[in-house]
Amino acid sequence: MPRLRVSSFTVSLDGYGAGPNQSLDNPLGAGGRALHEWAFATRTFREMFGQDGGTTGIDDDFAARGFADVGAWIMGRNMFGPVRGDWPDEGWKGWWGENPPYHCPVFVLTNHPRASIAMEGGTTFHFVTDGIQAALKRATEAANGRAVRLGGGVATIRQYLQAGLIDEMHFVVSPVLLGSGENIFAGLDLPKLGYRCSEHVATPNATHIVLTKRG
Ligand SMILES: NC(=O)c1ccc[n+]([C@@H]2O[C@H](COP(=O)([O-])OP(=O)(O)OC[C@H]3O[C@@H](n4cnc5c(N)ncnc54)[C@H](OP(=O)(O)O)[C@@H]3O)[C@@H](O)[C@H]2O)c1
Repeated sequence: MPRLRVSSFTVSLDGYGAGPNQSLDNPLGAGGRALHEWAFATRTFREMFGQDGGTTGIDDDFAARGFADVGAWIMGRNMFGPVRGDWPDEGWKGWWGENPPYHCPVFVLTNHPRASIAMEGGTTFHFVTDGIQAALKRATEAANGRAVRLGGGVATIRQYLQAGLIDEMHFVVSPVLLGSGENIFAGLDLPKLGYRCSEHVATPNATHIVLTKRG
């Protein structure tokens, strides 16, 4: 089983994993929502947000696979929220409400220390200020034999790719052009870092690609 994996990370045709100008009103950055239409349509994502229905099939299978057997998450501070710099207070607790869809420990990379936050449903946010290796060590211990999922955003995934620490990366190309934003692969020499494409399949909504690292 891959130790550290990325799942359902979605990029535009021009390589952006988030639109520009992320804000409270626009958590995915300008135009970013269009990226994720494939995911929002699936039964897995709808269930996660308490909604009925949704598509089944390839898109949904990939979405569900991303949540299977995950024991801990890692994410960057910008994915956790729009607050930048020192935390002004303990008010911001993520985008996801009182019961976030993680249900396990989540390690948030930041340069700004903060006490851990226990949420409903088993999610606890821990703030890690000593770098990606430390976050991975803590997440791996917390996952206790299950996988660690790296959620994003772009800056965080790029660091783990550059360090060769991601074992498997499922990313999804949406048929959307963003023009600007956070570019996921620019300047990264993935073959040199040991990655190859091990799976690819297209659906009407998106193209799913899995990159696997040489063992
Ligand atoms: N396309 C997708 O599927 C997908 C998935 C998830 C998220 N996203 C989107 O991606 C965007 C966020 O991505 P992003 O690239 O802006 O930021 P990010 O990777 O979420 O967070 C970057 C921030 O995390 C902290 N950080 C990262 N690495 C660190 C390290 N080694 N040590 C200490 N702190 C570290 C720093 O914050 P401080 O210095 O301020 O503490 C840094 O500015 C959002 O719009 C989100 O919605 C997209």
